[in-house]
Amino acid sequence: MNSYKKIGILYGRERSFPMAFIEAVNRKNIAGITAEPVRIDKVIQGENSGYAVIIDRISQDVPFYRAYLKNAALCGTAVINNPFWWSADEKFFNNCLATRIGIPVPKTVILPSRELPPDTSDQSFSNLAFPLDWQSIFDYVGFPAYMKPFAGGGWKNVYKLHNAEEFYQKHGETGQLVMLLQEEIVFSEYYRCYCIGGKYVRIMPYEPRNPHHLRYNADFNPSAERLQEMEEIVLRINAWLGYDFNTVELAVRDGIPYAIDFCNPAPDAEKTSVGEDNFNWVVDTAADYAIERALNHQDDGDNLTWGKYLQQATAHRSLAVL
Ligand SMILES: Nc1ncnc2c1ncn2[C@@H]1O[C@H](COP(=O)(O)OP(=O)(O)O)[C@@H](O)[C@H]1O
Ligand SMILES: [Mg+2]
Repeated sequence: MNSYKKIGILYGRERSFPMAFIEAVNRKNIAGITAEPVRIDKVIQGENSGYAVIIDRISQDVPFYRAYLKNAALCGTAVINNPFWWSADEKFFNNCLATRIGIPVPKTVILPSRELPPDTSDQSFSNLAFPLDWQSIFDYVGFPAYMKPFAGGGWKNVYKLHNAEEFYQKHGETGQLVMLLQEEIVFSEYYRCYCIGGKYVRIMPYEPRNPHHLRYNADFNPSAERLQEMEEIVLRINAWLGYDFNTVELAVRDGIPYAIDFCNPAPDAEKTSVGEDNFNWVVDTAADYAIERALNHQDDGDNLTWGKYLQQATAHRSLAVL
């Protein structure tokens, strides 16, 4: 039994959050617990990573890291977020799930990529009607519509489209990206909500129509009921997905919060974008939660979070709204 528990953080180009997180954990001075940047000098199958907990901020961009984390998880590391689930889901599936668990989402379809994926030809697509039933798709989604990658983030390749002509033109520019086409939610208020550990929620007014550095300068003033309603939505989404660390963007239209973007397992936490108060909350809450996971860590067990969707599905239970 090893009572000494190391917490590691795996990260890319970001600089403010990882170091602040490490300092916050270490400052809390919990006996037997330390945090440090993950260090990898070799990865051998079936060998323990040496970390009780790893916060993953970058494996979406580095397939080698994703494989490293799956092996680490197999050997008992509590990886935040579960690398298996993160490999499995994307924005379209998450929207689909939302429709089954009573979370309002914009009407959404997925589209085959405009260009053929590598090593495929027309013959690879015998099952696909050509052309697709565009008129029904447009009738369902409506215009204006948003088009964005099904596995995207960071506001890259997000288009607002006003009509079919514009759609065809812009879709023609998306190459091999698989895109969602989605109803526009014309919102009166917008919120970006952190959810950590499936229980700590921070609802941040957010004005996406402002320039980047001013987006958190939004003066929406939600009522206590609206706040509670949004918190419940955020908790519900993350319980079903099984994410330990995620953000949910909610756009409020006619009093109804619609979940717009809720597949962000490495959400932006840079001080310069989220601002000092939000930054301090994320750092401190992530530190507390990582410590909690380290204290609960079982040396020889599975220490991942598995969401309610997988739990229900693998037990062959209904997904009807619970
Ligand atoms: N369906 C939609 N209705 C209204 N605005 C949207 C919609 N989809 C995206 N947006 C706007 O585009 C921004 C980026 O899209 P989002 O889904 O958050 O993608 P990303 O993962 O790249 O952040 C959102 O913050 C929002 O302002
Ligand atoms: Mg977003």
